[in-house]
Amino acid sequence: MQALPPLFDLPLVQSAAKLAYEALQTGKKTFGYAHREVGTRIRTLIYPGSDQSQKLNPQGMHYLETRQDQLMATDWQDAERGVYPVSLLFDNPWEEFFRLYPQVWLDTPKVWQRAGQKNYQEFAPDIDVEGYPKYYLQNFHHQTDGYLSEASADLYDLQVELLFGGTGDPMRRRILAPLKQGLTAFSSTPAGQIRILDVACGGGRTLKQLRGSFPDAALYGVDLSHTYLRKTNQLLSQDAGKLPQLLQANAEALPYVDNYFHGLSSVFLFHELPGEVRQNVINECFRVMQPGGVFVICDSIQQGDSPELKVMLENFPIVYHEPYYRHYSTDNLVKRLEAAGFENIEVEVHFMSKYFIAYKPLGSNC
Ligand SMILES: C[S@@+](CC[C@H](N)C(=O)[O-])C[C@H]1O[C@@H](n2cnc3c(N)ncnc32)[C@H](O)[C@@H]1O
Repeated sequence: MQALPPLFDLPLVQSAAKLAYEALQTGKKTFGYAHREVGTRIRTLIYPGSDQSQKLNPQGMHYLETRQDQLMATDWQDAERGVYPVSLLFDNPWEEFFRLYPQVWLDTPKVWQRAGQKNYQEFAPDIDVEGYPKYYLQNFHHQTDGYLSEASADLYDLQVELLFGGTGDPMRRRILAPLKQGLTAFSSTPAGQIRILDVACGGGRTLKQLRGSFPDAALYGVDLSHTYLRKTNQLLSQDAGKLPQLLQANAEALPYVDNYFHGLSSVFLFHELPGEVRQNVINECFRVMQPGGVFVICDSIQQGDSPELKVMLENFPIVYHEPYYRHYSTDNLVKRLEAAGFENIEVEVHFMSKYFIAYKPLGSNC
């Protein structure tokens, strides 16, 4: 008797899964839009004149939708060609979502009040702010307690989902194909000995995706926030798979020896750093990377990447407290990567994100 093909190889199953993925993403997009729209209306009722954002024109909206559809198509294609398992596309913390969504609304009046009063460095009295760099002690996105409380760590990923209408993970996943490609340079190294570090791992969404894509690799994560690291630990302990080694550290002084990692990633960090700190972090990433290794940065698009979305780039630091975003939006990261010693730098843009793929030259031991 002929052996049956694996279930996912059946065209009908593939089409059904693709439809399910599209439906999931459309649902997230609609929910995110409704959430933001309701929020803006209520806020305007309570604080008339508080909505200072410029609106995207119909052409801009159409462009944005097209780009979002392209992101989904690439996300599906990368799963289909095996960069990561299709199951990763459906990895959604539903239980948390329903548990935490009311908290987002309960926290919202505090966010509006803080934004209205221009309180940008407000932390609960029981939060120890000693030892953190000054640039970090901010209520980024007007977030309650910045990155320094359990509540902030709980809400962060959900807030990203709502802000980006469910495209946060698809944008993060765009680092996986270039990393996989870059790591082919180490094809003679056993998969279990490949080391990948996620710099500023936040609540661990990227590490979870890295584990999906590189199940045998040794994964590492650093972040300045111990509450976000705890969240990462929770997230990655939920399923089977190797646990990453997590360390609380400043990315400007990575606690690893020189030439250690084969791959590095960093997602949504650089726009939250002052210019000179961006350079320090890039230099550190270069130092801890093995010659021949690959570094993939994912962050916001910058000025000039999409003139149609210029309004959105201008809105972002107005609507959300992002003190370093304007500088970031015109910063030349290619130059910074080259200054650190990286070479063969490639740039990609997907939806609202930009990717820098950089290699450490062979023979450049630190
Ligand atoms: C916008 S969040 C991105 C988190 C995560 N990478 C993601 O994809 O959601 C920025 C993260 O960078 C961390 N961070 C900011 N400055 C840092 C620094 N100098 N060193 C280490 N982590 C830092 C914050 O604690 C926060 O978790």
